[in-house]
Amino acid sequence: MERELTMEFARVTEAAALASARWVGLGDKEAADNAAVEAMRAVFDTIHMDGTVVIGEGEMDEAPMLYIGERVGNGESPELDVAVDPLEGTNIVAKGIAGAIAVVAIAKKGCLLHAPDMYMDKIAVGPAAAGKIKLDAPVAENVSNVAKALGKSICDMTVVILDRPRHHKLIQEVRNCGARVRLITDGDVSPAVACAFEDTGVDMMMGVGGAPEGVLAAAALRCMGGEMQGRLWPENEGDVARAQALGIKDVNKLLTMDDLVSSDDVFFAATGITEGALLRGVTFTSKGALTHTVVIRGKSGTVRFIEARHRFDKKPQYAMKGCLDGPV
Ligand code: FBP
Repeated sequence: MERELTMEFARVTEAAALASARWVGLGDKEAADNAAVEAMRAVFDTIHMDGTVVIGEGEMDEAPMLYIGERVGNGESPELDVAVDPLEGTNIVAKGIAGAIAVVAIAKKGCLLHAPDMYMDKIAVGPAAAGKIKLDAPVAENVSNVAKALGKSICDMTVVILDRPRHHKLIQEVRNCGARVRLITDGDVSPAVACAFEDTGVDMMMGVGGAPEGVLAAAALRCMGGEMQGRLWPENEGDVARAQALGIKDVNKLLTMDDLVSSDDVFFAATGITEGALLRGVTFTSKGALTHTVVIRGKSGTVRFIEARHRFDKKPQYAMKGCLDGPV
């Protein structure tokens, strides 16, 4: 994939973030999600690519846009697999709290796991600890090996875990090792990616979250030389059937980086909607808005943080009453 696509994918996540940021704290997660989806969809069609959504908003009959199998882009080559989450953290935006992002991962056709919409058990680390984790090893062993690889005391480690009843045992086990635990209410893509950036203070992400979110985070970690391992976590026969329908014959298989994202020819882009470990959220100003985006290209490993200033007089699609004319 050409490096010029870097800016194009940043535009895609910026658009979704700008649109959903209007809904921060308004208590309406569906409206926030719809706004992000519509904005992302519109920008995709301006890009020279023949993309197929492999991770998206659901099946064709469940989602009007960005559904699995939908073609995006202007239809010209290259043929690409597209994974999207226009609003990762719908509850976060509805409540106006930290950690929501708009995110995409794009790879050559056939290189992203077609993950069904179900749970996955995951463990993620940055490049310094790649090769040192095993999903099936005891928690204490993983924490200790990662601490050694990072050259840190266990008591200085931070492990991010979704705050869910299913994680009570995991949380206790991490605490028993002496590591610090950061519990999050939602949004496990951002902390998984943050593991690859030492200055975020996030060292590991563990626990059961969305399988599609696992593939999105794995794309960023693949670009950066980090590691994620996962295993689907079906809750019923329907989950098993959906996984098999997407070509995953053995739902109990340990999914390695190569299973999740099988090529370095991958892009990852994310824009902050609300403040997070890795990205600042959208800030509205008197004339427009500021956005903060990270774009990572797997082939070169280059990480770009893009701070953009958007002028709503020139981008009227993002303006709402009050943005151009002063407060309503
Ligand atoms: P949204 O789909 O509402 O954006 O939620 C995303 C998320 O918090 C993921 O980050 C996480 O992997 C998953 O949901 C956790 O699922 P659950 O809330 O069912 O535990």
